[in-house]
Amino acid sequence: MSESLDLAALPADFTWGTATSAYQIEGAVTEDGRAPSIWDTFSHTPGKVANDDHGDVACDHYHRWPEDIGLMKRLGADAYRMSVAWPRVMPAGDGPVNAAGLDFYDRLVDALLDAGITPNVTLYHWDLPQALQDRGGWTVRDTAEHLADYASAVAGRLGDRVTRWATLNEPLCSGWIGHLEGRMAPGLTDLTAAVHASYHLLLAHGLATRAIRAAAPEARVGLVTNHSTVEAASSRPEDIAAAVRMDGHTNRWWLDPVYGRGFPADMRELYGVELPERSGDLDAIAAPLDWHGLNYYFPATVTDDPQGPVPYAREVRLPGVPRTGMDWQIDAGGLESLLLRLTDDYGVRELYVTENGSAFPDTVSPDGAVHDPARARYLEQHVSACVRAVRKGAPLAGYYAWSLLDNFEWAYGYDKRFGLVHVDYATQARTVKASGLRYAEIIRAHRESHA
Ligand code: FCB
Repeated sequence: MSESLDLAALPADFTWGTATSAYQIEGAVTEDGRAPSIWDTFSHTPGKVANDDHGDVACDHYHRWPEDIGLMKRLGADAYRMSVAWPRVMPAGDGPVNAAGLDFYDRLVDALLDAGITPNVTLYHWDLPQALQDRGGWTVRDTAEHLADYASAVAGRLGDRVTRWATLNEPLCSGWIGHLEGRMAPGLTDLTAAVHASYHLLLAHGLATRAIRAAAPEARVGLVTNHSTVEAASSRPEDIAAAVRMDGHTNRWWLDPVYGRGFPADMRELYGVELPERSGDLDAIAAPLDWHGLNYYFPATVTDDPQGPVPYAREVRLPGVPRTGMDWQIDAGGLESLLLRLTDDYGVRELYVTENGSAFPDTVSPDGAVHDPARARYLEQHVSACVRAVRKGAPLAGYYAWSLLDNFEWAYGYDKRFGLVHVDYATQARTVKASGLRYAEIIRAHRESHA
């Protein structure tokens, strides 16, 4: 049964998009002067990724992009959130620009605009040039400065046509999952490295914001962060305190400095790691933004875990709640409350859901279709949460579904399918799933509601 959606409550110019990222779809990892990124290294290290999958070919989007733009048109989406691969544009991480790398994005942007699709470009979606990792990666300050130089090169080339820019995608994942939990590239498990990386990532965001604006005066610059609502597993004071710590680790650490409040004191004390601060950094990090992108997938319920890793709060698995194929709890209410928190607590004036979606083990049926009612339902519930948030005052201007295509899902490899379009990796055949058709209907219905 499909949910009835009061789409007319969304603004008439609401943006409907799909999202992807470079390493997850492009393939062509050695073409036209691209150098390895930390994800090439990580995925080619045995045991790091499910089935030892890697992004060497992925969805072969580097060659099949015209077809993929055709798919976006079929869905009726008017925007596309994509990322640029730093190792294509500046293969050494700093220094000379590789013109052939930039040419690819130049062609892609032109073709998107010709198709009536507005590009929203993320500069850093986790594919740090390996050459920079070899010099310390995000644990050193230079990397933040290099990101700004790279941002300036890309904005200088594309900024006459691209106006929507994001500096970073989900710095939490780069910082905590990449440097503390070790489940993502570069695969470190070191608290000091992680805290320093988190600091340099946010500094990079601030420096890149300035660099983009200098290179492309029309640019509207934002940051994309991922968040979860956090609940205590019980009313025990220890669990309530654990929820405050988890909220600090997952939400406040990434938002407070960006919105001018500095790094939260309770978390600084908890980590016990001195920040590599220099004067002026906090102002750079808090550069006023034109928009904020929220990536939302699941909520968290936590219990006190004094012996566990930082932040000494362990997620508990609630019984009897709906879950996706990632085993992530489905809770659209979490999206509504995070949108309202960004609005009311952080004062964000233009908001986008820059990613939201679900993985399920889809197959192409003998009738040639992909029947994925659970993904369609997830989509409806979350669009409905957007409607509720708008009614309560959230300045939500758009929604980007993750993802256009099934793709390389990081440490989960190709096992987890998030696409609105199914990809057969053996043949590269694309099939729009039933959820993709449902998305097209939602987009159409919203437009008609304002006609
Ligand atoms: C987000 C990432 C995106 C994708 C989704 C499922 O954390 O930004 O690349 O992997 O999760």
